[in-house]
Amino acid sequence: MPRAVITGWGRCVPPVRLTNANLERLCDTDDDWIVERTGIRERRISHVESTDLAELAARRALASAGIEATDLDLIIVATCTPEILCPTTAAMLEERLGADNAAAFDLNAACSGFAYSASVVTGMIQSGFVERVLVVGAEKLRYILDYRDRSTCILFGDGAGGAVFEARDTPDGAGVLSVDLGSDGELGRTMVWGHMGSKGDPSRTVDPEEARLQFEGQAVFKIAVQGIAASATRALERAGLGTDEVDVVIPHQANARIIDAATRRLGIDPERVFQNIEHFGNTAAASIPIALHDALEAGCIAPGDIVVLTAFGGGVTWGSVVMRWGDRVESLGTHHGELPSTEATVFDLLQPNLDFFAPDAD
Ligand SMILES: CC(C)(COP(=O)(O)OP(=O)(O)OC[C@H]1O[C@@H](n2cnc3c(N)ncnc32)[C@H](O)[C@@H]1OP(=O)(O)O)[C@@H](O)C(=O)NCCC(=O)NCCS
Repeated sequence: MPRAVITGWGRCVPPVRLTNANLERLCDTDDDWIVERTGIRERRISHVESTDLAELAARRALASAGIEATDLDLIIVATCTPEILCPTTAAMLEERLGADNAAAFDLNAACSGFAYSASVVTGMIQSGFVERVLVVGAEKLRYILDYRDRSTCILFGDGAGGAVFEARDTPDGAGVLSVDLGSDGELGRTMVWGHMGSKGDPSRTVDPEEARLQFEGQAVFKIAVQGIAASATRALERAGLGTDEVDVVIPHQANARIIDAATRRLGIDPERVFQNIEHFGNTAAASIPIALHDALEAGCIAPGDIVVLTAFGGGVTWGSVVMRWGDRVESLGTHHGELPSTEATVFDLLQPNLDFFAPDAD
């Protein structure tokens, strides 16, 4: 049976930074509080659409794998902030990349989207239906954030990351070894974004209360810690591995304290846990592929390593993927394209959010 091996990786983070000092001007918060409670120092705010971020991450992942878009059988875009609902972001990518032989669909499992997508890909590769798949996580989360609401806006950023999965019959046993997925709709009420569905009738006006992301911070924190630890444990058990055999954990970057608490429960020391939340905040479905890219570029993954991807998100959903890394930790090629440049400041980019969500604020 073939295994799903990651052979290419790429990311696209937009250039405009939203620092903690910038946030101090928008809501009642401060740098010390944010760093201590979340580990985040800055995030990126996109001047383009999530499809544009996805496209560049995809092109970089394809170059890294050394394959052409026409080699792809399938494109999955994990996102909860697609530019539009239909055509899907994946279908738009298929056209932009010229991936003429690929099926394409979006997958929404919020922050667990990349882990869910990797699990779907694993099943399809092992059953022989597909051989080469591009998975992209892409988000423009600033669209759903009220930057006067300090309980939510400090956490999130925009970005995209991509990975190419290929079917391999590798004698070294590389590839995805096991997965664990789950959800709990009742707990899902702790984290809600009620806009952009078909609720109500077409003439309804958009209510800012519905259009902004809301969650019960402390409840979500606890559910996330328990969810990540339990899911990763189940996936490792299925793979017949103990936590002492794990070389690198790439967790969803939601909050440094969530990551620390969950991996402590797992009994995995911090040196084996990759974090880049300091620079990008929580980028939902994009966070694991961005972190995976950064971990590889930083030399944190070696050939043959046992790597665990683990995530938790809205729904609520959780997912973990255990894999043995292949023999290559360097990209085969580089895509040199860039996003269009912008003169806009972070405050220019956020002004529409301020006008919509909090028009009466100072
Ligand atoms: C949101 C979160 C960072 C808040 O951290 P916390 O340690 O739980 O903080 P609390 O909500 O208990 O608030 C503690 C105090 O800080 C205040 N506070 C909250 N946000 C603040 C901010 N941005 N700046 C300054 N003070 C803040 C609160 O009002 C509270 O003050 P009080 O004690 O006077 O009432 C944390 O709960 C979290 O990360 N939750 C998970 C959210 C998440 O990741 N969602 C997506 C999952 S994929």
